[in-house]
Amino acid sequence: MAISKKIRSQIAQGSWIRRMFEEGILLKRQHGADRVFDLSLGNPVLEPPSEFRTELLRIARDETPGTHRYMPNGGFPETRAAVAAALREESGIPFTPSEVIMTCGAGGAMNVILKALLDPGDEVVVIAPYFPEYVFYVDNQGGQVKVAGSDKGFQPDPASIASAITGRTRAVIVNSPNNPTGVIYSKETLAKIGQVVLDAERRLATEIYLISDEPYRKLIYSGVSYPFVYPHHVRTVVATSHSKDLGLAGERIGYIAANPADPARADLIDAATFANRTLGFVNAPAIAQRIVARIQRATVDIDAYRKKRDFLYSELTRIGYEIVKPDGAFYMFPRSPLPDDRAFVALLQSRLVLVVPGTGFGAPGYFRLSYCVDDRTLEGAIAGFEGAFAEATARS
Ligand SMILES: Cc1ncc(COP(=O)(O)O)c(C=O)c1O
Repeated sequence: MAISKKIRSQIAQGSWIRRMFEEGILLKRQHGADRVFDLSLGNPVLEPPSEFRTELLRIARDETPGTHRYMPNGGFPETRAAVAAALREESGIPFTPSEVIMTCGAGGAMNVILKALLDPGDEVVVIAPYFPEYVFYVDNQGGQVKVAGSDKGFQPDPASIASAITGRTRAVIVNSPNNPTGVIYSKETLAKIGQVVLDAERRLATEIYLISDEPYRKLIYSGVSYPFVYPHHVRTVVATSHSKDLGLAGERIGYIAANPADPARADLIDAATFANRTLGFVNAPAIAQRIVARIQRATVDIDAYRKKRDFLYSELTRIGYEIVKPDGAFYMFPRSPLPDDRAFVALLQSRLVLVVPGTGFGAPGYFRLSYCVDDRTLEGAIAGFEGAFAEATARS
């Protein structure tokens, strides 16, 4: 078929997560869905809060003409105002509606920001372990990815970021709470990254944005307040969504928020608004915009995710897995008991437990599991984790 060679090769190398998902479908067909324990996908399992349904019903009954037409490409003014107000309250930073535009999820927001920033051949630094889609998002906008590393606790390594930056670097992507590790980047780490970026800007006479991808910002279990990136670099822009905090992944609603301290923020927001239109998103979905404007302070039942994390962490560490305890999101990134993470994932698969090899996140030697699954799946997976660990330890 006449699809491009590039897409063909991206599909072939690209998605471990998708591959595991497809393996899962086959295994479920062979063994029965209730005997396969699929921890490979980050698809939120918790239902949206009740406020969502109330607002949805209100909109369904609203017969005001024009409700479903196009609106300004950046979104409804009242939605941007509601997001800015909630952000002011959450961060203490003086956001106004002109710093916010509504997007089709965090994925849409990332593509829009990258489109606004990159010229062909420009570079973007990502920090391993990273969300694999970044590689494609950067490529979509003509950029090149450079990979920096993290320490043993999965905090980004500032020295490694410094050496990944060149004269062509236009952005560094940070993602906290992190997919795949669940780790929250500390304020100290963010301050060091900010300093590294500022030093590089001065040394290379360039401007570099910190793009903070934060769809898990409200999924935090440790009582820590979220360390925002804005105070650490003036050129910071956030991409986020309500896919996870409101359980609305299918509704494709998110936003971009530029730093009120960035002197170039109006240009950035203009460019992003143009990119939102010309990438074909046009605008974020109207119904979802109207709903989230009214439920900015609601969330899914975050404590339910915390309980799942606690159960899984205590069971897996009891078995002997080495894990950096995650403080947020709904992932864990244990060390693979076999040096080859793909071989270990295959061992788990033979016991009908599906996870994703760390290789897919730029971090071989680990594997990712998602605990945004029902309790039956979590509990059912434990025997497989136990058996595979014993087999791996006997082999090595
Ligand atoms: C780190 C990260 N960024 C972005 C996204 C995309 O989120 P959305 O569904 O809001 O586009 C995801 C989804 O899993 C994610 O994990």
